[in-house]
Amino acid sequence: MATLRIGVLGSGSGSNMQSILDAIQSGALDARLVCVICDVPGAGILDRARKHSIPAYALDAAPFKTKLDGEAERRYIETLRKHDVDTVVLAGFMRIVKPRLLHAFPNRVLNIHPALLPAFPGVHAWEQALTYGTKIAGCTVHFVDEGTDSGPIIVQRAVPVLPGDTPSMLHARIQEQEHLAYPEALRLLAANRLRVNGRQVEILPG
Ligand code: GRF
Repeated sequence: MATLRIGVLGSGSGSNMQSILDAIQSGALDARLVCVICDVPGAGILDRARKHSIPAYALDAAPFKTKLDGEAERRYIETLRKHDVDTVVLAGFMRIVKPRLLHAFPNRVLNIHPALLPAFPGVHAWEQALTYGTKIAGCTVHFVDEGTDSGPIIVQRAVPVLPGDTPSMLHARIQEQEHLAYPEALRLLAANRLRVNGRQVEILPG
């Protein structure tokens, strides 16, 4: 069991990164956050990382809008390698990662999605759930494969959809569970308790 060396990719406020950091600092997760890379200059995740003295990079991913590809992808991989990352955590990273990055970190790229997959992949998943009229929503932590939000599922947590919910109310309720689900999935990974067999992720007893 080795301490995970986590590199986080994000585009937003970084609340999931914060939950992982909190789990590390409380001793609940055997990991180090060794770098944070963000494709949006000025995003909150960069400030949060710097506040904790974690190397934080704003790396442009142009000319693409929704994927990490080409020269930008090369720069991201190089930065992750420079910090000797062994686990890549997508935490609100608003781009599709492509095979080159996945092959650079085989079976070690995780994502969190704000819906109970396979329902509602893609963007604004909580709005999709609300519009559809589901009574239960939630979040999913999964390994990343070459599809969109389609990799093997590690952890899911559910929340009720309540009468009168707005998209932001539902998203906030889902995020509370995200902040438990990501540290939990990483704890299982750090403890070597995840065995992947095709689509199935078996959780070995602790
Ligand atoms: C989360 O809801 C995550 O599920 C989605 O983007 C949001 C990121 O939030 N993919 P944060 O930047 O971690 O606060």
